[in-house]
Amino acid sequence: MSVPSTFDRLRSEFSSELAHVTTESELQTLRDRFLGRKKGAIVAIMRTVAEAPAESRPLLGRLANDLKSYIEAKIVEYRSTLSMKQDPAGTVDITLPGRTVTLGNVHPVTHLLERIQAIFSRMGYAITEGPEAEDDYHNFEALNMPLDHPARDMQDTFYLRSSLRFDHPKKSGDRFANLLRTHTSGMQIRYMETHEPPIRIIAPGVVYRRDSTDLTHLPMFHQVEGLVVSEHATMGDLKGTLETFLRELFDNKTQVMFRPSFFPYTEPSAEVFIGCLFCQRKGCAICKKTGWLEILGSGMVHPAVFEAVGYDSERYTGWAFGMGIERVAMLKYGVDDMRAFFENDLRFLEQHPY
Ligand code: DAH
Repeated sequence: MSVPSTFDRLRSEFSSELAHVTTESELQTLRDRFLGRKKGAIVAIMRTVAEAPAESRPLLGRLANDLKSYIEAKIVEYRSTLSMKQDPAGTVDITLPGRTVTLGNVHPVTHLLERIQAIFSRMGYAITEGPEAEDDYHNFEALNMPLDHPARDMQDTFYLRSSLRFDHPKKSGDRFANLLRTHTSGMQIRYMETHEPPIRIIAPGVVYRRDSTDLTHLPMFHQVEGLVVSEHATMGDLKGTLETFLRELFDNKTQVMFRPSFFPYTEPSAEVFIGCLFCQRKGCAICKKTGWLEILGSGMVHPAVFEAVGYDSERYTGWAFGMGIERVAMLKYGVDDMRAFFENDLRFLEQHPY
């Protein structure tokens, strides 16, 4: 058989076999048979060309190269036809990289709440929750803030429409006026009304205030309240517990300072500060050059509060605390605008500050 007719035979053999190829691996096998470097048909024919008489070599060489290019082109073409067959509409470009699956994150405020609850759970505290729509009695009056108490003004309140009697609920004298709780401290009352000492609880939850929104204020935010009542709860327990808690939450070298303060439902009262996390107490814009950051309010439960719930204030002592979670989250995660926690901007939420 002459060399040129061998080319023709190979070409038609390749074509008819290609027509039967249905998978990528069959295509690869066919390719190897014709174009394989060692045993491929083209390589074999190249060898015969090399042995042919000198005068016919250029023609045969060209024919061999033409056949090789033809087979290569057909294989490339067929490969794309094969992928089209797997996706007839051609809508999926299987050569594109896959889409990464993003996992959702826990919101930073939720994460912090969970950490705080875990720390107190380990110390033996029960976790309790209560209503966000509260009455005047539990939010103010039973906490030793009678109707005209000036401390009510520290917490501008959203009153609920159904309770707007006369011209203003504060003047109505209605202890059942409904409002959105301004703090979680009302949970102290609710819990003591339904339980006997000893008590060791924390009460996390949402609270509301008529504040205009800015970098450090929101009309709705989270607090965690704490309450301990027994026959021998002391200010020393309060200090030791809060110090332990703050060192667990921040860092075991965190400095903690207690400063006298005033809350109507505690006596004595103390504000609790930690050494500024941003300047190591040297004084910066965040701590307003004081070196300290205020974290929570606390104090020994006022006897009037025990009397409101029917506890013997001669027999029991207690201590309580309350803290704002968004504020702590700002300090802990270095967030400079409180509104970021509620804007649900994915670029913010996707970060893992913890
Ligand atoms: N209720 C206070 C507030 O919202 C925080 C607070 C202070 C809670 C002292 C307490 C406490 O239980 O003892 O600012």
